[in-house]
Amino acid sequence: MSTQHTAKQIFRPNKDLSRNAAIKNMCEYHDLQEWAEEDYEGFWGTHAKEKLNWNQPFTKVLDESKFPFVRWFEGGKLNVSTQCIDRHLIIRKNKAAIIFEGDRGDQQIITYLQLSYNVNKFANLLKNRFNVKKGDRVVIYMPMIPESAYAMLACARIGAIHSVVFGGFSSKALRERIMDADAKIVITADGAFRKGKPYMLKPVVDEALAGTTPVDKVLVIQRNNEDIEWVEGRDYSYNEVIEQESSICEPEIMDAEDPLFLLYTSGSTGKPKGVQHNQAGYILWAQMTMEWVFDVKENDTYWCTADIGWITGHTYIVYGPLAIGATTVMFEGVPTYPDAGRAWKMIEEYKINQFYTAPTAIRVLHKVGEDEPKKYDLSSLKILGTVGEPIDPSAWMWYYETVGNSKCSIVDTYWQTETGGHIISPLPGATPIKPGCATFALPGIMAEILDDAGERVPAEEKGFMCVTRPWPAMVRGIWRDEERFIKAYFSDVKKDGKPVYFTGDGAMYDDDGYITITGRTDDVINVSGHRLGTAEIEAAIQKYDNVAEVAVVGKPDKIKGEGVFAYIVLKSDSGVADELEEFKTINDIIKQEIGNIAICENIVFVPGLPKTRSGKIMRRILRSLAKGEAIVQDISTLEDPSVVATISELIGQ
Ligand code: PRX
Repeated sequence: MSTQHTAKQIFRPNKDLSRNAAIKNMCEYHDLQEWAEEDYEGFWGTHAKEKLNWNQPFTKVLDESKFPFVRWFEGGKLNVSTQCIDRHLIIRKNKAAIIFEGDRGDQQIITYLQLSYNVNKFANLLKNRFNVKKGDRVVIYMPMIPESAYAMLACARIGAIHSVVFGGFSSKALRERIMDADAKIVITADGAFRKGKPYMLKPVVDEALAGTTPVDKVLVIQRNNEDIEWVEGRDYSYNEVIEQESSICEPEIMDAEDPLFLLYTSGSTGKPKGVQHNQAGYILWAQMTMEWVFDVKENDTYWCTADIGWITGHTYIVYGPLAIGATTVMFEGVPTYPDAGRAWKMIEEYKINQFYTAPTAIRVLHKVGEDEPKKYDLSSLKILGTVGEPIDPSAWMWYYETVGNSKCSIVDTYWQTETGGHIISPLPGATPIKPGCATFALPGIMAEILDDAGERVPAEEKGFMCVTRPWPAMVRGIWRDEERFIKAYFSDVKKDGKPVYFTGDGAMYDDDGYITITGRTDDVINVSGHRLGTAEIEAAIQKYDNVAEVAVVGKPDKIKGEGVFAYIVLKSDSGVADELEEFKTINDIIKQEIGNIAICENIVFVPGLPKTRSGKIMRRILRSLAKGEAIVQDISTLEDPSVVATISELIGQ
């Protein structure tokens, strides 16, 4: 399917979907959006009162007096684990809360009552045995198993702040996050299974904790039962100690604005940032977007393939689905193992109604088995979601036609770690959709594409994707770094002279006002939906003592969206003895410093980098060279213009 063929096509929602959807048509959408525009606090206050169970009602909806440090639902008190568990126990105690499928096909179904039992015990364990108190930080370095969700909810129950670190990060990356968060304990597993084989996590934790750290206890969940080292007095086996705890743990009553979790994410500069989300606003929006965007009905089964180490796993595997009392599927493995039909087989077996994955996964599944979905009964599907990176129209069309049998709504959800939940997305029963388009801002979200001067850009012109008013699930801060928070999000774009939240992404309206996200405008790259800072990768490569200078850019990749492309100047006296050997050494360093997700596919050893006379590296030129584009910029002002032709030649070779 060619891009030109599909780009302007419009697909209207299936009538069956519209009839019962949370938002049924565009009139309802516009009414909601108008309500929010005319009475912002009324809109949010009403939803917050209706959707959440408050222990104490809030007295003020929004306090912007210290913008961008805003406060929502002030005076309100609640507990997030109660929203996700306790309030469902009256009518849903025996409903499946989590359906777990292991890599090797093992299965567990956890009802809301069992979830309550497990989370309460876990919460008591943290509180009683490990003395974890409200406000303490707990790092969770875990595979995709139900205990990860128990750990997150147990923290929420006792008011501890969790910081989940993706299990693919290296010991150094884990240590950096433990130190920055000043964590008291680490929850991990011996390891887990991937593609039929065991892999390990505990040894990574051991390495991360070598030397002095604030961590004094490590809780280890047994999953793959491989041999691990044990540090007496520090390490505890969950499976041995959990049974001693009571299954009743009174929830800590939290202020609406107490922190709920930190999640580290990459920015364009420096070390990863500890994005902070707070209690009420986050859970409210997780719940509202679950209802609006996935339109989950009482008997539906919903599957999001993300990892809990990323925000998608937080909001759309754990908090959002459980807040609405849904059945959420958790999958330990990869959708292509043991064969190209694994994902489709699971959809058939569990009768999945909403399937949510990343464009990279869709492209891989398309590549490994174009007609594979047709071998399975996928008729339960109603909504197909995508997230994390732009989806190209051809992947979109395959998803729509072959997976969804041209009957499902595709929700191309645009959002970020910092937005807490979706901000731009089609509504499955209402929005006519176009391939590759995130469409419109959700009701209550004041999103606008602005230019340098803070004016709304005309159709077909690129601008900055901004949100002009704070929303409840907005990032509340970068952990212990107020200045960086302001600089990272509120310094680049102003509207009517006032700073607005800038996402870091470029975007464009079409003639119908549809929004297409065009990608990052900063030095952040998106590899398989994983957000990586080029500065972080450069810092890792710099650790190699044979490297004099390095610049990393993203290179478009048919499957992964982008790949990592590094230009490296080696120290002159050593030169490039063996390129393959150097390539391997550099990638080993990246694996150690960050993890496998950041490895470079392309490394070019160059004699110098294109720099201005003041020494600034011209990344735009390097991006164009990586793409194989002709250089149209004026290069005469470069310190050494000849370097551009040399690099171009080296890439050609
Ligand atoms: O560039 C955008 C891209 O992913 C970035 C956010 O990454 P992260 O914080 O890791 O969260 C990923 C999951 C929400 C954004 O700045 N992105 C996310 N969704 C889309 C997208 N780009 C295009 N279309 C999307 N639907």
